[in-house]
Amino acid sequence: MSKPVRILGIETSCDETAAAVVQDGRTVLSNVVHTQIPLHKKFGGVVPELASRNHVEKIGTVVRAALDGAGMGLDDLDAIAVTNGPGLVGALLVGVSYAKALAYSKKLPLIGTHHLLGHIAANYISNFELEPPFCCLIASGGHSEIVEVKSYVDVSHIGSTRDDAAGEAFDKVARALKLPYPGGPELEKLAENGNPHAVAFRSKFNEGEGFDMSFSGIKTAVVNHLQAHPDANLADVAASFQFAVNTVLSDKAVRAATHTLALAGGVSANKNLRTMLKTKSEKKGIRFFCPDFVYCTDNAAMIASAAFYLLSAGKISDLSLNAVPYLDLC
Ligand code: KG4
Ligand code: ZN
Repeated sequence: MSKPVRILGIETSCDETAAAVVQDGRTVLSNVVHTQIPLHKKFGGVVPELASRNHVEKIGTVVRAALDGAGMGLDDLDAIAVTNGPGLVGALLVGVSYAKALAYSKKLPLIGTHHLLGHIAANYISNFELEPPFCCLIASGGHSEIVEVKSYVDVSHIGSTRDDAAGEAFDKVARALKLPYPGGPELEKLAENGNPHAVAFRSKFNEGEGFDMSFSGIKTAVVNHLQAHPDANLADVAASFQFAVNTVLSDKAVRAATHTLALAGGVSANKNLRTMLKTKSEKKGIRFFCPDFVYCTDNAAMIASAAFYLLSAGKISDLSLNAVPYLDLC
């Protein structure tokens, strides 16, 4: 048997400082996430400058905790992986600089990893049998994409949002409902006691045959509804909004899939979306996969997992690696 490959992953693209050690792309030896939610909560959203500064403060402790958790030191590692985009440039730079310093000092391969390739890889950790090719719906705070995962390192575009990302729409509607940041999980909680069919929030764009999506019309319809009905039942509004967004996501993704569909990104933690995708996939005879809840939102285990396959494909970065806020996936 060949020697196991152990990769330290580092993720600082937004408001989580995360580090993890993953073996052979699928086995998580440690997974440490320091969330900045309490820091940003009073501002109702992520403040980029505060995020960068907090990453600088925490990254050393978080990396140390990941190594300790895996019971190893830097000398036991085979590579250093880091998210180099997309994300907040100042936040990304903290992880990229830290990873470069570690790789240089220990003469280890450095693997710049796309954040969304990481979200896709969260599925490999949770589902040992999943292998490309498959169709993947990525729904996060910054992106909503339907892609074909042709191989572990090659992804092609099928459809994407024309405006707000799904998570962004959840967060904005949550704010309109006066829920605290981050809005997605709070809105999901409120929706549990509401009627998803109370209000039909539709957007004509999504009714077409294409795979592109639009969420800003749905969001505006909710805001208008709240203004016109100050006494609206907020749980009903939340449930109806969630139903509208998840219907678009699940209808388009299941239609795009031919045999296997996976779900990725922070919104993959939404139980209603998971259920809708599972039910619709089963109806069409499609295998459906999603990550365990712990790997849905930003973490570094998913980055180390994706990096294992990049390393296997010889896709190694050099020390000129930079943070790229708008890095393309395909
Ligand atoms: O992937 P992620 O952690 O960060 C980005 O890469 O953007 O995704 C965060 C997004 C936020 O918009 C958050 O509100 C949303 O995912 N989210 C949810 C849920 N959990 C997180 N949206 C709906 N329901 C959830 N349970
Ligand atoms: Zn993310």
